[in-house]
Amino acid sequence: MDQPDYAALAAAAFAARDLAYAPYSQFRVGAAVLTASGTIFRGGNVENRALQASVCAERVALLSAFAAGERQIRAIAVVTPTPTVASPCGFCRQVLRELAPGCTVVLLSIDGKRRLTTPEDLLPGMG
Ligand code: THU
Repeated sequence: MDQPDYAALAAAAFAARDLAYAPYSQFRVGAAVLTASGTIFRGGNVENRALQASVCAERVALLSAFAAGERQIRAIAVVTPTPTVASPCGFCRQVLRELAPGCTVVLLSIDGKRRLTTPEDLLPGMG
């Protein structure tokens, strides 16, 4: 299979920051998921007054893909408004590990610094 077009996926993740609903943190995160069918699903973080009910951008995009019936995830890009690349939370690591094993995770800072990783690197020790 060809190497995914990470530049296009990164651009989609940057654009997805506009989809964020982040009135509490003002921290707008964008994510874009590339599936095996070649479809890109976007998502922004969606917060709630009950903060624990908030959902990170990467889970919004990933669950959107799953909700549309996609089951094979090739890559996910995440853009955070930070000067260095993000570090996904534990919930996201767990969900990525189960729903997107072996995919490429592209973490991006707001000025385009990039780190490539995998769900297995983000959450080792699962056997
Ligand atoms: N957030 C994400 O959406 N993804 C990350 O990788 C880091 C954090 C969101 C959660 C919350 O809405 C806000 O950023 C502040 O933590």
